[in-house]
Amino acid sequence: MPPTVAEARRADLVAAIGPRRRKCRPPAARGAQHNRGMRYIDVDGRQLSVVGLGCWQFGEKGWGYGRDFGEAESLAIVRRALELGVTVLDTAEMYGRGASERLVGKALTGAGGDRFLATKFLPVVPLPQVLMRHLHHSLERLGVQHLDLYQLHWPNPLFPLGVQVEGLRRALGEGLTRYVGVSNYSLSRWRRAERLLGVPILTNQVRYNLLHPQPERRLLPHAQATGHIVIAYSPLAQGALSGRYRPGKGPGGVRRVSPLFTEEGLQAAAPVVEALREIAAGRDVTPSQVALAYLISQPRVVVIPGAKSVAQLEANVAAADIQLKDDELLALRRASDLFRLSWLRVSRQLFRSTSNRVESTS
Ligand SMILES: NC(=O)c1ccc[n+]([C@@H]2O[C@H](COP(=O)([O-])OP(=O)(O)OC[C@H]3O[C@@H](n4cnc5c(N)ncnc54)[C@H](OP(=O)(O)O)[C@@H]3O)[C@@H](O)[C@H]2O)c1
Repeated sequence: MPPTVAEARRADLVAAIGPRRRKCRPPAARGAQHNRGMRYIDVDGRQLSVVGLGCWQFGEKGWGYGRDFGEAESLAIVRRALELGVTVLDTAEMYGRGASERLVGKALTGAGGDRFLATKFLPVVPLPQVLMRHLHHSLERLGVQHLDLYQLHWPNPLFPLGVQVEGLRRALGEGLTRYVGVSNYSLSRWRRAERLLGVPILTNQVRYNLLHPQPERRLLPHAQATGHIVIAYSPLAQGALSGRYRPGKGPGGVRRVSPLFTEEGLQAAAPVVEALREIAAGRDVTPSQVALAYLISQPRVVVIPGAKSVAQLEANVAAADIQLKDDELLALRRASDLFRLSWLRVSRQLFRSTSNRVESTS
């Protein structure tokens, strides 16, 4: 008998996004406030929470630091994250020019809870000795002896890849980081870097959200087949999936120059936001939570949403409790497939209109 439409859709979904079960184990020791819904990926006995915390917002004026929120909120967010069972904390030397690492370090001082601390090297001059110097500065700002994960923030095509991974080799050799990772790497570059290094490059941190599902094509299948991990940055599309922003009412700061928050970008994203809203309304949760639940329904994915308040952090953590049904996943996948935005063309328009504004005011 031929499959029914529902069966065919289900097969389509499973083929497209794979099985939804993941190997999970709760961390050994947890405080009384541990969020029971959190799920973990076990890496050599270390527990990586599938919802982590992105720390770009801390110390970064372009995200409203110093205006909408400040040091007290940043410290409270990190500490509450640990209480709720978040272990993955992601920062970078470039966030707030070191301010984010300092704030995370301050928040961790004396704080309990398991943690998987990750930061990133900005590879402008990715020579091994430069990387090691920067790594020591990061450790100092974070107030720790070693990291759990040290990542190359971006590929630098001007230097041979072998030279760039040499710094990672030294960091591992000196015991300054437990694992190494890359960020914004294609699959072929990730694999080539790993071959050159000769030991696993555990993670690749890439933009992954419902408006940018490209990692599902090659990176995710690779991670799932080989035990690597995809760390999803901008999982809320920098807030565009929250449903809070409308054409003409976008956010300022770093997002002012993002094609996503132009009138055209927000209009293109509207059907995806609508699909999120529909599912969220049926479950009494928010569109942002559904957006995160979609990503972590897939094995070997850790999301690292940024947060500017404890309330946002708590909402993001609670997304780990949501188990989306197959038809909900399929509806989201379909809406996501229809999203189209020419990043290049809209970026050019943005650049032109900004230059015109500057010229007319000078
Ligand atoms: N490796 C890389 O190249 C790279 C690049 C970008 C980011 N990252 C990392 O990824 C992390 C997250 O990415 P991101 O900050 O770009 O984008 P994101 O996590 O998609 O968006 C964060 C923003 O969404 C809004 N938000 C957060 N939680 C919310 C909630 N529950 N409900 C409604 N709105 C909520 C907040 O802004 P508003 O409230 O102001 O709307 C917040 O600042 C960063 O912190 C950083 O660690 C890495």
